[in-house]
Amino acid sequence: MMYVTRRETFNAAHKVYNPAWDDTKNMEVFGGCANPNWHGHNYTLFVTVKGSINKDTGFVIDLKKLSQLIRKHIIEKVDHKNFNLDVPFLKDILPSTENVVKVFWEVLEEPIANMSCKLHSVKLHETENNYVEYFGEK
Ligand code: NI
Repeated sequence: MMYVTRRETFNAAHKVYNPAWDDTKNMEVFGGCANPNWHGHNYTLFVTVKGSINKDTGFVIDLKKLSQLIRKHIIEKVDHKNFNLDVPFLKDILPSTENVVKVFWEVLEEPIANMSCKLHSVKLHETENNYVEYFGEK
């Protein structure tokens, strides 16, 4: 089994805010990410697929095709957008990195399974120092 990773970047705005709480509690828990007038991050997304090597190409997957798939299903929907307002598949989801990466997994799993390999992990860097990685486990 071989593991192949494609990196993509995008930027997006969000507000991490629990509507059940008042502003004070939201600022306590989420800090600047609860800023009422939004803020943005430069995100880096790593998508890893697994499969066996195709004898004719020597590839597990054509990385150009994997890039096109990620761009079509994720990047074009989120780049320069507001997670809370603009992205249908994130509607009503508190846009922590954990929740976003789980939704990205759900969006990518089936189209990748149609390309003769399987989704292994989705990793999303929100900052240089913080990232979340998801392997599809419940
Ligand atoms: Ni934030």
